[in-house]
Amino acid sequence: MIYNQWYVILESKELKRGKPLLVKRLNEQLSLWRDENGNACCIEDKCCHRGVSLSCGKIIDGKLECPFHGFIYDKQGKVISIPANGKNAAVPQSMKVQSYRTFEDYGFIWIWWGDENKTEQEPFFFKELKDFSYSSFKDDWNVHYSRAIENQLDVVHLPFVHKTTIGSGNKTVVNGPVVVREKELITFYVNNVKDDGKTPALKPDEIKDYKNFFYLQFHYPNIWQNFISDKIRAFAAFVPVDDENTIVYIRYYQRMINIPLLKQLMNFTGKIASIVILRQDKRVVVTQLPVKSELKMDERLIMGDKPIIEYRKHRQELIDSFSKN
Ligand code: FES
Ligand SMILES: [Fe+2]
Repeated sequence: MIYNQWYVILESKELKRGKPLLVKRLNEQLSLWRDENGNACCIEDKCCHRGVSLSCGKIIDGKLECPFHGFIYDKQGKVISIPANGKNAAVPQSMKVQSYRTFEDYGFIWIWWGDENKTEQEPFFFKELKDFSYSSFKDDWNVHYSRAIENQLDVVHLPFVHKTTIGSGNKTVVNGPVVVREKELITFYVNNVKDDGKTPALKPDEIKDYKNFFYLQFHYPNIWQNFISDKIRAFAAFVPVDDENTIVYIRYYQRMINIPLLKQLMNFTGKIASIVILRQDKRVVVTQLPVKSELKMDERLIMGDKPIIEYRKHRQELIDSFSKN
């Protein structure tokens, strides 16, 4: 994983008030709950006293109580009360567990996975989506999240994996693609065409009008959108569980229809279509070996893989710059 990043880890609706939630993310067991104001709190799910899972405990006045001996944790992961020592007894500083800063908006919860003093105020999101309505679903994939991401950066697979859906039309020749990276945002423009048997694929610098093509965007470390039109987007968050498992959150966003029932119908239809397409991907991607991709690995890439190459290069740069994987 890339250190010092905000990671989407959960949809807001998954974390209910009044009950702690145990999830595994980024190779860690995490205990989440909502405090008295509804703010998401996240700490390591292992009591520093004798190792019990804190998410089995109770929320008391917005804090988390360990089910074993009643130690109470605040959202910074500090123990603020040890009942066996007496209510007024001071709690040693060493009584604490790892805590994670959280951010919540757009129906998602993020955690800051990195050094506390390097926290960026807010994670990046495709802000324009605030004006859209959406439907969503999640899916478990037995791959490292880098593979799930690369699948959505892959324009070569469309006429094969999605022959019956978004890849119909036998457009097997991949011009470019043109890939533009601005800081942590990669935009790539898609120009797949039918093979006339004579013209080889155009190189990226031979494509001048690329801004007219439809495009997809990925933002590190784990969100993506497909700019289907000004009013319709597909969105995905690739949430690392551990080195071999990922949860893919898919959303279908639209702002074409705002009339209540019709809106729900359109969002539902978009969701079903997204599930069908994602399952076509999953069938193939979960067979990839090794399950985790690297910048230097035994694969023979082609020009059409440029978005994937760019993703791997910059991912490695980010990993190196924070020197913790
Ligand atoms: S194990 Fe948590 S209070 Fe003892
Ligand atoms: Fe796909």
